[in-house]
Amino acid sequence: MEPFMEETYAARVPVYAFVNQKGGCGKTTTAVHLAGALAARGERVLLVDLDPQAHATMGLGCSPDRPTVTDVLLGDALLSEAVAPAPGGITLLPSEPRLAEFEEISGRLIHPERRLARALDEAYSAGVRFDHVLLDCSPRADGVLCANALYASSHTLLIVETGAFALQGAIQALKVLDEVAENQGRAPALRVVGTMFDRRTRFARELLVALHARFGEALFDTVIRTSVRLREAPALGLPVQELDPKCRAAADFAALAEEIMALETPGRTLSPSERTDLKEYELRPPSPERAPSASPAGRPSAQPS
Ligand SMILES: Nc1ncnc2c1ncn2[C@@H]1O[C@H](COP(=O)(O)OP(=O)(O)O)[C@@H](O)[C@H]1O
Ligand SMILES: [Mg+2]
Repeated sequence: MEPFMEETYAARVPVYAFVNQKGGCGKTTTAVHLAGALAARGERVLLVDLDPQAHATMGLGCSPDRPTVTDVLLGDALLSEAVAPAPGGITLLPSEPRLAEFEEISGRLIHPERRLARALDEAYSAGVRFDHVLLDCSPRADGVLCANALYASSHTLLIVETGAFALQGAIQALKVLDEVAENQGRAPALRVVGTMFDRRTRFARELLVALHARFGEALFDTVIRTSVRLREAPALGLPVQELDPKCRAAADFAALAEEIMALETPGRTLSPSERTDLKEYELRPPSPERAPSASPAGRPSAQPS
């Protein structure tokens, strides 16, 4: 299968679909704050909220004045008409509960799963430019919204909460993704991000080692640690880079953004100092951690956020 088709939007601009059929595993959090970290570097980032729950939209303090992503998918508005500036320099294509109706209407459309890709293509042809597009998906991995995300994307970012049954959940998610890829005749490149990592639990450290064994290079070195700041951010309507640029969550997302940039630049690899050393997670007895005063970006530490 081709990684992605020539001449499509995703062949020109990296498009990441944040997926996992498990709700609450950190998809929206990762999408919003990675968007913020890329935007903080001066990158032009489009964040598309593809979830009728609209958590990314609300978490950036945006109330969806119409038009929204629903109108874009229905062909009633251009993407350029529906996008709005969001905090932290992000451009947002907002969602709303009405997006759920697209699932029902899609039965009457020809190739409803191609609508988002087409809207991105049209915007590109009209001169609208982004450096990265991030698609925050709903947990319904087998639905038409996720199919739109996968059809439009160059990469799927499987978000894995480093908690109980995560590996089984990830493998299950891959099965669903494979089925969609089979149906669409195309498979975006897979990448995996571990989230909600708590180094103090032996279980989380073991799981990270298991994820690395299963996914190898597809697993990002950066792991997003649990952080109070990330819990607070949606209520404050800001990406963490704006909220508290010095906190550990901001460091984690800056490190993930760095890896994304490296991924998109052929031939550019991270220097050893930028890489997370897996030995960090290898099994030592769960100890009352020595809290290092400064931990390198992206490396788990026991510091309170
Ligand atoms: N790294 C993290 N540290 C602390 N809380 C987190 C972290 N990632 C996500 N959360 C919290 O977990 C909950 C679910 O996260 P969310 O990103 O909405 O998941 P999903 O989009 O997969 O449903 C939210 O309350 C969010 O604030
Ligand atoms: Mg979500």
